[in-house]
Amino acid sequence: MSLPPLPESLIPFLKPYIPNNKDDKYITLTYAQSIDSRISAKPGIQTKLSHLETKTMTHYLRSKHQAILVGINTVLADDPKLNCRYLETDNDGELPLIRPIITDPLNKWDYDNSQLSKICEMKQGLPPYILIDDSIEHTKNSLKLKKQGGDYIKLALLKNRKDNWNLIFEELNKLGLNSIMVEGGATIINDILSSNKKLFNSLIITIAPIFLGKDGVEVSPNKQVELKNFKWWNGKQDSVLCGILK
Ligand SMILES: NC(=O)c1ccc[n+]([C@@H]2O[C@H](COP(=O)([O-])OP(=O)(O)OC[C@H]3O[C@@H](n4cnc5c(N)ncnc54)[C@H](OP(=O)(O)O)[C@@H]3O)[C@@H](O)[C@H]2O)c1
Repeated sequence: MSLPPLPESLIPFLKPYIPNNKDDKYITLTYAQSIDSRISAKPGIQTKLSHLETKTMTHYLRSKHQAILVGINTVLADDPKLNCRYLETDNDGELPLIRPIITDPLNKWDYDNSQLSKICEMKQGLPPYILIDDSIEHTKNSLKLKKQGGDYIKLALLKNRKDNWNLIFEELNKLGLNSIMVEGGATIINDILSSNKKLFNSLIITIAPIFLGKDGVEVSPNKQVELKNFKWWNGKQDSVLCGILK
């Protein structure tokens, strides 16, 4: 399905919160939530929250980054395509390419049967780098992954589970991936927001006019986190809050 056009006012609105250049070292934390700070209605399921115009915004943001990072539970729940479907006017009709990164320390993902592997067969996306713990000796029999140009990256992920983000980002930088859009899920967002280190450059949150209720998957860091230089944008349905860490 093609995306509706990006509301023009979003371009200047987002500019201070995205990398100037895709090669810049830059981490953007971004997700869509309900009014009660839930990102899905129940664990393990996908919940449509964004209006089509903020969905287009997500693809526009992807076009400004080299990589998109999500956790294994998001991949298992959503089976996402993790590609970029925002057509830049100056790109000769070619869709921008973004590298999917999945944190999957226990190597749970059956990549060969995923939607992402199918769209990579059709050359509509880049194959992922799957971050697994360095204790995993034999990875799942993923024939397509390596054939398509993706890979498993072994890292000491489980040793310091809550505080390994510098290790992860440094490894991605070594792979030439400097601008990274972190899209969730809740475990990842909460860990990054809760860290005592400043792990991200900007935060872009879409807020949809719905309460998902107590069973929902909640984003709430384990400490107070305040933003500065924040701005709000109001669309047809959703509001978007951008800011940087105070
Ligand atoms: N609304 C939105 O914008 C949005 C965006 C994304 C996802 N979602 C929703 O969020 C839900 C999933 O969120 P979730 O909190 O359950 O899971 P998640 O954050 O997607 O994945 C968490 C898992 O990833 C691995 N992991 C993450 N960070 C790690 C780290 N630093 N080191 C080692 N392993 C790490 C761990 O896997 P192991 O458990 O195997 O160790 C962890 O349990 C889904 O329902 C999805 O639909 C919503």
